[in-house]
Amino acid sequence: MNTLPFEIPGNPATPLFLAPQAGVSEAPFRRLCREFGADVVLTEFVSAEGIVRHNERTARYLRFDDDERPIGVQIFGADPACMAEAAALVTETYAPDFVDINFGCPVKKVVKRNGGSGCLRDLNLVGRIVEAVAGATALPVTTKIRSGFDEATRDPVAIGRVCAEAGARMVTLHPRTRADMYSGSARWEEIAALGGSLEVPVIGNGDVRSGEDARRMRDETGCRGIMIARGSHGAPWLFRQSRAALNGDPVPGEPDIATRFSICMRHADNAAAYEDNPDKAVREFRKHLAWYTKGIPGGRSLRQTLFRIEDAGEVRAVLEDYLRRQGVFTGPGQLYRYDSVGAARDRLEFAGAGR
Ligand SMILES: Cc1cc2nc3c(=O)[nH]c(=O)nc-3n(C[C@H](O)[C@H](O)[C@H](O)COP(=O)(O)O)c2cc1C
Repeated sequence: MNTLPFEIPGNPATPLFLAPQAGVSEAPFRRLCREFGADVVLTEFVSAEGIVRHNERTARYLRFDDDERPIGVQIFGADPACMAEAAALVTETYAPDFVDINFGCPVKKVVKRNGGSGCLRDLNLVGRIVEAVAGATALPVTTKIRSGFDEATRDPVAIGRVCAEAGARMVTLHPRTRADMYSGSARWEEIAALGGSLEVPVIGNGDVRSGEDARRMRDETGCRGIMIARGSHGAPWLFRQSRAALNGDPVPGEPDIATRFSICMRHADNAAAYEDNPDKAVREFRKHLAWYTKGIPGGRSLRQTLFRIEDAGEVRAVLEDYLRRQGVFTGPGQLYRYDSVGAARDRLEFAGAGR
């Protein structure tokens, strides 16, 4: 009935998902979020056309390590046959724990070709895509939907039902329409309504930015799991805070600046090791640097310095210099390279009052 279609170690009552995010939910960030308590992760959306054409760049988005499991690969496209072929290829080559179909992406380039939320204008097409994909892989197939294409077509329950009837074994709802983009608030009551209408588990998504939000989403919607995207930017510890809030335990406070920088460096080191092209690694990491330094004293000028950096090795020195100027630098080991997950976990514990 409400059972998730894949196993999660420890079988948490309300699993926490790191949302699929283009340019963000890449292996280095996925692994960091797993360390902080994300129970399930997803790749960013990957074009079915790119997969079947064996496009080299596309293939890079599909790579993951076994220690990231359980992991879903998310695919998008508007042609059922192509989506089916892509799902079969992904299954055979990468064997993730599930294949997720994107019916939510609002980006013009994707929607124009009926991909992502573009499909939501034609529920018959949604059903045909899910059915084709489910018929092409032995892995569980799941879908991630928005509430509709626009206000006129807003009907998350109808969309979810079409997905489930066509073979989706879990549905994640971001309760905004494509027309909403990211404006207004996610209508959590639609998550509750969908959960009450489907036999398959419904995962809630949208506007979880604190542990307290996670607890409220579960309590107000009865969702089977919680998916987080923007709240984790520069704050992967949100998963730990969410878990504590869900368990009714004291919620760890925000880490201090030095701890935040240590986490940032752990992420940066991961990213540098993952990317073959070091210049590209530095450029692509800029958004994360912006997020990790958001809201700290003198953050703007620190970001200006960080954004000029071309060599990954300099990031640590700039952050150390900032800590020195703030009078909280304790020595060269402060933002050290983490050798193992265990060592990092020990060092990254942080405590404090609830958020
Ligand atoms: C930078 C960025 C990239 C995203 N890329 C994807 C994607 O590839 N696939 C997808 O299904 N949703 C994508 N999303 C949407 C998120 O998964 C999520 O549904 C949305 O941000 C709402 O959740 P939040 O309020 O926790 O951010 C993206 C969102 C952001 C901010």
